[in-house]
Amino acid sequence: MALRNIVKVNTEAESVLYKKTRIVERFDEKLKQLAEDMIETMHEANGVGLAAPQVGILRRMFVMNVDSEEGDYVIINPEICEMEGESIAYEGCLSYPQMFGRVKRPLKLKLKYHDLDGKINEMEAEGLKARCICHETDHLHGIMFTEKVIGNLVHESQLAEDDAEDENDL
Ligand code: NI
Repeated sequence: MALRNIVKVNTEAESVLYKKTRIVERFDEKLKQLAEDMIETMHEANGVGLAAPQVGILRRMFVMNVDSEEGDYVIINPEICEMEGESIAYEGCLSYPQMFGRVKRPLKLKLKYHDLDGKINEMEAEGLKARCICHETDHLHGIMFTEKVIGNLVHESQLAEDDAEDENDL
């Protein structure tokens, strides 16, 4: 396994964050290696989600770990098929260090995706998990959360204490 560099906004490499990704068609060893590297990179950066464009790879794939008991997920070719409710909360992004903003996301959703073996899976998610899936799926469309922020972006040092629990890098 190897750590990958996380592409940050306001750097020379940032254009990859605004590009669309290609569907994954080959479920081979190289893909498994990428998934392992992305999981390691996400944990090392203390994030709960990381999308392939954030490590410079334009493929429809992300990893997440929003609940240590559930462990790591590798989500390939995600399609959000049903959404329910609304939730507005602070979120951040490993590509935009230390800045947070309130974003409206669905409370619950259903997701179809491929796993690393190319098998189709379905998942129901709510709360932070649903938020993370939406944020990462946006990355696969070249959309940064900052495009959806309601109000101002705030530095983490300015987040009120009640908001601190929403302080997740996705
Ligand atoms: Ni992000």
